[in-house]
Amino acid sequence: MLLAFWLFIPAYVANPLAVVWGGGVPMDFGRRLRDGRRLLGDGKTWRGFFGGGLSAVLVGALQWPSSALWSAPLNLESFSSWIGPVMALAFGSLLGDVLGSFIKRRVGIQRGGKAPVLDQYDFVIGAFLLTGALFSGWLLTHYILNEAIFGLILIIVLTPILHRVVNIIGYRIGKKEVPW
Ligand code: CTP
Ligand code: MG
Repeated sequence: MLLAFWLFIPAYVANPLAVVWGGGVPMDFGRRLRDGRRLLGDGKTWRGFFGGGLSAVLVGALQWPSSALWSAPLNLESFSSWIGPVMALAFGSLLGDVLGSFIKRRVGIQRGGKAPVLDQYDFVIGAFLLTGALFSGWLLTHYILNEAIFGLILIIVLTPILHRVVNIIGYRIGKKEVPW
């Protein structure tokens, strides 16, 4: 279970890092759909997306030496099989967040408005879907098969708590406009 949590860190840090990097040109370039609402809104920017994604991949890369504890020796081959899932977790997490904002805008929730469940889990779903699509074997081994399923359960239980704590910190240090 600890391993499942450890491996999920790139997905967890991607969005807080996007908040740190955020600003500048919005991903939807200000575009509105026929419903009159923004495609994504000013809360999703390119700088946040790529700054958050690349720095989360860097965090994952720094975690790589830990894999010596349970798997292969540290060589180029083990790094290349490590970094793929890391990238999928980081960018899947951000894409999930983007999709969450898309859905929020379509149902009429303004930027920064609350969307229970969606706000907490959009990035988890995004991370699992992208990683499952690209590295299904890796995902099955670490989160689905046999006891690994408890890792998934841990993530589901822990995520709303972590989400709340991180957002309160983000609000206090003035990086987020609302504490959720
Ligand atoms: N952010 C960004 N780019 C991203 C994700 C986040 O620039 N891809 C930054 C924005 O400054 C954003 C802040 O991080 O305002 C907080 O992110 P989030 O809570 O996801 O956005 P909200 O402003 O709450 O907007 P939404 O209602 O769309 O979730
Ligand atoms: Mg938000």
